[in-house]
Amino acid sequence: MSKLTISAFAKMKEEGKKVTFITAYDAQMSRVAQGAGIDMILVGDSVGNNVLGYTSTHPVTMDDMIRHSSAARRGALETFVIGDLPFLSYQTSNEDAIYNAGRFIKESGMDAVKCEGGRRMAERVRAINDAGIAVMGHIGYTPQSTNFKGIVQSKSVEAYQELLKDARALQDAGAFAILLEAVPNIPAGQIAKKLDIPIYGIGSGREVDGVLAIINDVIGFGTFKSKFVKNFCNAEMLIKNGIEEYITSVRKGEFPSAEHFYSCDLKVEEEIKKLGDN
Ligand code: KIV
Repeated sequence: MSKLTISAFAKMKEEGKKVTFITAYDAQMSRVAQGAGIDMILVGDSVGNNVLGYTSTHPVTMDDMIRHSSAARRGALETFVIGDLPFLSYQTSNEDAIYNAGRFIKESGMDAVKCEGGRRMAERVRAINDAGIAVMGHIGYTPQSTNFKGIVQSKSVEAYQELLKDARALQDAGAFAILLEAVPNIPAGQIAKKLDIPIYGIGSGREVDGVLAIINDVIGFGTFKSKFVKNFCNAEMLIKNGIEEYITSVRKGEFPSAEHFYSCDLKVEEEIKKLGDN
């Protein structure tokens, strides 16, 4: 299948076809996701929690993101892949935003970038878009600014109206799509109906134009629990079982068996065995 484009995503919204969207942080996972038929991949700064062992996304650097997004790109050449601008790579100025968004395109071959924030970041979205780089907005719960907001967003009429203003500001600034995080089903669906661009959700119900999920949550690899997480398999258990069986097999002397080691010619083996200390 050939790579989907921004106009294909716009058409999918028009036709009511849901976009499937997943995170991936390396070449193996993006390869498997592409093979499974995913529409879009996000190399999220959630690499901090899911791969690098941090407890938040704050320590993740642009160099971390370039390394992981380049790897994800190499594994999924036929998939639309988005690089996530990490904390302090765009908040500081329009110049920083353009420069760092540009690094994703130039060094990692990303198709687009994503940044967090509504009206307060619309100017950055416009600057990146004006530089010729496609941008996805991200509002609702925004993990880079967790310190001053609770998790579930838009629980009142007023909060919904504010979120709608943020979504409109991002659309006006040129965002090609918006991700809503942790917004209840109905307000999220209303925003998707009112906006012309695709509105995707993570933890934002099913009335949106597409659904993002974190790869670790989908495959059950890690310890994160939340109302919106569904494990579709238990990779953690499979991997642990595999490692335990490997340990047992080595301890019993069963692995490696003849089919898993190299041999030389029988004669050579005999001569080697007969050799003394020299
Ligand atoms: O980094 C990420 O994976 C994200 C999602 C949590 C939305 O931004």
